[in-house]
Amino acid sequence: MKLQDKVAVITGAGSGIGRAIAKLFAAEGAKVVAADVVPAGLEQVVDEIKAAGGTAVSVVVDVSKVQDVENMIDTALGQFGRLDVLVNNAGIMDRVLPVGECPDEVWNRVMAVNLNGPFYACRKAVPIMVKQGGGVIINTASEAGLRGGVAGAAYTSSKHAVIGLTKNIASYYGKDGVRCNAICPGAVATAIGLGGEPHLEAVSRLMKVTELSPRTAQPEEIAKVALFLASDDASFVNGVALIADGGWAAI
Ligand SMILES: NC(=O)c1ccc[n+]([C@@H]2O[C@H](COP(=O)([O-])OP(=O)(O)OC[C@H]3O[C@@H](n4cnc5c(N)ncnc54)[C@H](O)[C@@H]3O)[C@@H](O)[C@H]2O)c1
Repeated sequence: MKLQDKVAVITGAGSGIGRAIAKLFAAEGAKVVAADVVPAGLEQVVDEIKAAGGTAVSVVVDVSKVQDVENMIDTALGQFGRLDVLVNNAGIMDRVLPVGECPDEVWNRVMAVNLNGPFYACRKAVPIMVKQGGGVIINTASEAGLRGGVAGAAYTSSKHAVIGLTKNIASYYGKDGVRCNAICPGAVATAIGLGGEPHLEAVSRLMKVTELSPRTAQPEEIAKVALFLASDDASFVNGVALIADGGWAAI
């Protein structure tokens, strides 16, 4: 058990990568606070964790709302008395819109969910972790956090920014025992979609780039990376943007 009795908050836990992380962390002994804006998938994940003998509670959260996010962290403290691991994983796509065709509403929503959400959660969690003597934050970024041409302008900017946030936290709070790392998945088989009516030319370019990806991963493969980063196996790993893409970025 790599996370025995650790208290872990995971956003976007109702689907895809977050769901796989919640189940794997619970199987490794963590007490899981599963958070998502969609209640249905969330309840299912919590039921499955409990049926397997694990411990989990659900909290419905829109990570773009600061009050929701603070309530999520307070739920961890209220239910389990501490916070050891925070996984900022909830995210949305941007229809692959290039900057010249990206309306305010798409830009603002993508930033609100993909960047403001992790910021609100880190701001609330870090002082708690420092007081406890340490903790781990994992931000699900993306290969789009490192490359320019694998998503639209808003998604790409949000994921680059979340890697900056990750490194800043690592550099400042490493001395306090807080480790903060990002995962940059390549293509993963989830329900994320493109976030609405896609931009046709941008998508056709994206398809050409995606064709070079060796294969699509299952969410459980990304969850194993998160488990490594959350566990003491990664005790000296801080401030990295860890690529998990089957070799796509190496091309
Ligand atoms: N699937 C991929 O190929 C891929 C690749 C790179 C990065 N990612 C990143 O992985 C993360 C997880 O995505 P996924 O692929 O599992 O997608 P998914 O759609 O299966 O899961 C995302 C979850 O986030 C939740 N969510 C969305 N907006 C929210 C909000 N405002 N508040 C709370 N929860 C919210 C959704 O309800 C959903 O349950 C995202 O950050 C995504 O950008 C995915």
